[in-house]
Amino acid sequence: MPDDHRYPDEQREAVYRVIAERRDVRQGFLPDPVPADVLGRVLTAAHKAPSVGLSQPWDFLVLTDRSRREQIAALARRHRDEYAAGLPGARARAFDRLKIESILDTPVNIVVTCDRTRGGRHTLGRHVQPQTAEFSSVLAVANLWLAARAEGLGVGWVSFFDERELAAQLGLPAHLEVIAYLCLGYVTGFAPEPELATAGWARRRPVSWAVHAEEFGRRGLPGEEPVDPLADVIAAIAPPDAAAMTAALERQDRMTKPRGSLGVLEEVSVRLAGLAGSCPAPLPEPACVAIFAADHGVHAQGVTPWPQEVTAQMVANFLAGGAVVNAFAAQVGAEVTVVDVGVAGSLDPVPGLLPRKIAPGTADFTEGPAMTREQATAALMVGLEIARDLVAAGNRCLVTGDMGIANTTASAALICAFTGADPAEATGRGTGIDAVTYARKVDVVCRGLARHRPVLPVVSEPAADPVDVLAAFGGFEHAALAGFILGAAALRVPVILDGVISGAAALAAAAMAPDVTAACIAGHRSVEPGHAIALSQLGLTPLVDLGLRLGEGTGALLALPLVQSAARALRDVATFDSAGVTEKP
Ligand SMILES: Cc1cc2nc3c(=O)[nH]c(=O)nc-3n(C[C@H](O)[C@H](O)[C@H](O)COP(=O)(O)O)c2cc1C
Repeated sequence: MPDDHRYPDEQREAVYRVIAERRDVRQGFLPDPVPADVLGRVLTAAHKAPSVGLSQPWDFLVLTDRSRREQIAALARRHRDEYAAGLPGARARAFDRLKIESILDTPVNIVVTCDRTRGGRHTLGRHVQPQTAEFSSVLAVANLWLAARAEGLGVGWVSFFDERELAAQLGLPAHLEVIAYLCLGYVTGFAPEPELATAGWARRRPVSWAVHAEEFGRRGLPGEEPVDPLADVIAAIAPPDAAAMTAALERQDRMTKPRGSLGVLEEVSVRLAGLAGSCPAPLPEPACVAIFAADHGVHAQGVTPWPQEVTAQMVANFLAGGAVVNAFAAQVGAEVTVVDVGVAGSLDPVPGLLPRKIAPGTADFTEGPAMTREQATAALMVGLEIARDLVAAGNRCLVTGDMGIANTTASAALICAFTGADPAEATGRGTGIDAVTYARKVDVVCRGLARHRPVLPVVSEPAADPVDVLAAFGGFEHAALAGFILGAAALRVPVILDGVISGAAALAAAAMAPDVTAACIAGHRSVEPGHAIALSQLGLTPLVDLGLRLGEGTGALLALPLVQSAARALRDVATFDSAGVTEKP
């Protein structure tokens, strides 16, 4: 019988229980020493871990001496401060409230090391994958952590160290690597959920996002139908919560200010409440701008004087922190993430760059579809996964950004396709082009629309599929932005839209799920004429109108403090009754 070797129910439950109840503990440690026999059992469990080629590359350094631990705590403090100094505003404030180590609060610290050289050159398995030595030591940590939980001992893993600096401080032989620095002790209790989740720093991802059937991307748990994340996201998008909106409207009227005196910001606060389903809505912070970058085949038609390489060069500039979007993000306390969803050149891997290239640029839409349907769908998926990953990472407001030389041409075509607008009215001068180039640009949009007439919603019967429209004209960044906006709406997190590129993407998203607009806030109105057409079709009022035409997410970032102020006012401002202020009769 397959069941023959199964543990009895109670023991099996105990195994799953210890896995579920293991916590990273940083608070509530008791000073009581850990008896030697308990520590011995926990270390023996660690030593039973699997290891590559049975190399058992770990060693355990047990530290109790306070003065040594004080020196180590000083190292961790320095790295904590450096990390804090690099965080955007709201993140820095949230981080300030977190405890990240308990080196001195615990009676014992254990350093788990790895010896990559142990066992010689023919260690089975490690010969092709040297990093399996480190993986093995990590498994020893996992065993230790679980055994400690069963013993009622809390464990906290501290990684705020420069590994070589810590190894030197510990006096380790040079061939040993520090894998984990662990703080152990008895505790007042174990939290039911990860502390970082309770603190709102990050969220758990559902297991169904992490399991793929046969092919990466075919998500779903065994025994269940594979999930179609795009269909799920579209199905999850619902209208705003009417009761929360009513409560917000009523509260605005009772707040200590003349009725309606906050103008458009009152509407914003009501929309945020409707989206969150609560009044007041949670503050939309921390915020993260995602800049989706891609190149366009239509560039070959001479619609812009800028060479295509500028897309990749600007991506490098965003990552180096040198663009306007970086300055604005720093000013308003937002994080910057850059997504290569289809840049023509290859980009070096650097922190902050998400490599999600579908293809090195789209095809020329005057000659055929810019993307295949599969590419458009893949780009949509990139966007929605990034939205949910950024929300899982703790963001409470998403901001759209874009980079792609020639993308105002693709945007104009998308806006015409989704709204029926005249190309001469929807096409703008982008980065600034002369009359001859402008005339050519309008002609390119007209030719594209003529070529793709069968997929256009305004002429096709029955209504065209928005994915086909995106595929016909869109850049990878448009499709990814549409997915990003849909992903935010499904999670009921506000998404502040930047200019004409985001407007075009939002039209595609709204064609897939009309209620998506409840999550959208129009950050600004760009100079591009197509943008106003898109916003009017979406029914969105831009918060800022400063004659910007840069893209990158800059206009949306300027609106971020307005959105946050609107939410804070609804939450914090006293009412006439609570403040004892006389209401105007
Ligand atoms: C490799 C690794 C390094 C970690 N480093 C730190 C750290 O430096 N400081 C900290 O407070 N927590 C650290 N943690 C703990 C995680 O934040 C924690 O495991 C996660 O939030 C999940 O919570 P849970 O362990 O209670 O389930 C680390 C965890 C791992 C696996």
